[in-house]
Amino acid sequence: MLTIRPAETDEDLEAWRRVRLAVLPYERCSTVAEIRRSVRPGQLLLLAELDGVLAGHGITAPSDIAGRASIAPRVLPGFRRRGVGTALLRALAGHAYAELGFRQVRALVDDPESMGFATRFGFAEIDRQVEQVRAIGTEPRPQAPAGVEIVSIAQRPDLWPRAYADVAAAAVHDMALEGDFQVTLEQWEADWINAPQASFVALTREPDELVVGLASLLLDKDVPDRAEHGFTAVRRDHRGRGIASALKRQTLWWAAEHGITEVYTWTQRGNEDMRRLNEHLGFGYRTISVTAERELPIV
Ligand SMILES: CC(C)(COP(=O)(O)OP(=O)(O)OC[C@H]1O[C@@H](n2cnc3c(N)ncnc32)[C@H](O)[C@@H]1OP(=O)(O)O)[C@@H](O)C(=O)NCCC(=O)NCCS
Repeated sequence: MLTIRPAETDEDLEAWRRVRLAVLPYERCSTVAEIRRSVRPGQLLLLAELDGVLAGHGITAPSDIAGRASIAPRVLPGFRRRGVGTALLRALAGHAYAELGFRQVRALVDDPESMGFATRFGFAEIDRQVEQVRAIGTEPRPQAPAGVEIVSIAQRPDLWPRAYADVAAAAVHDMALEGDFQVTLEQWEADWINAPQASFVALTREPDELVVGLASLLLDKDVPDRAEHGFTAVRRDHRGRGIASALKRQTLWWAAEHGITEVYTWTQRGNEDMRRLNEHLGFGYRTISVTAERELPIV
């Protein structure tokens, strides 16, 4: 018998994480504490069990893109083609429509088989992201451009909200995304940093101290020798001076110093500047993730 139920206790959330790590082994998964910290109003996490055995999970929540819910039904490889994905999708989409009031829903799909499922349920591709990956070797300690200083958020915790206000809030609109990207300061502080010692900002001091760029690593408690690049951005009026490159090299240097052997990052189609910068820094390509969307309700 198939049971779909909310994931509520810490044990449920550990089961939820097991599915995510099995289905997306190349991706960092938030810890239980991080999941609890970044809960969004209206968010629903589900577990699917077949005869009492964990078979899949799901999540739906308001997306960072205005007016959309994001949705993710995921089924463990050994339990596919038995209707578990369909039941999860219907429960998640029903919640997004009836409880949260959304009329559009989007999902990320990383493989052709899952795209077959998405197409079967009327989702259509609207965007793509590529995953760029870099092996970490011996990394030289980077030089900041003249007049620019790079400091960590562990050294200056007060700079993270300023990085949001002075850099990120404007730069998210340069990301060539399909839709209007909205991140609140609360989400920024909950979701966009998990290691202050591996998160860096670039400062200028003349005439007053100004945050002009940021780059970070999101560390991975399950696979400590890999890390994800967080959001990298430079103020529009400070671009073209080597600041992004110096910030990224700072994170690569930090990674090498802390036993990390692989760093990966996701970049949207159309964000050619960031792709080229990553290529310049020696990143290669791995997974392609399709963003697929459809209208609600699913009947
Ligand atoms: C996509 C996913 C959730 C499907 O789970 P599932 O339990 O196997 O799906 P279902 O058994 O409910 O499939 C329902 C229908 O979808 C279609 N479908 C499912 N998997 C498919 C595949 N590999 N190729 C083509 N069509 C597929 C079929 O029409 C299927 O009906 P059928 O089995 O009677 O032919 C699962 O493959 C998965 O976890 N993928 C990775 C995560 C992901 O990409 N999720 C986002 C999807 S929007």
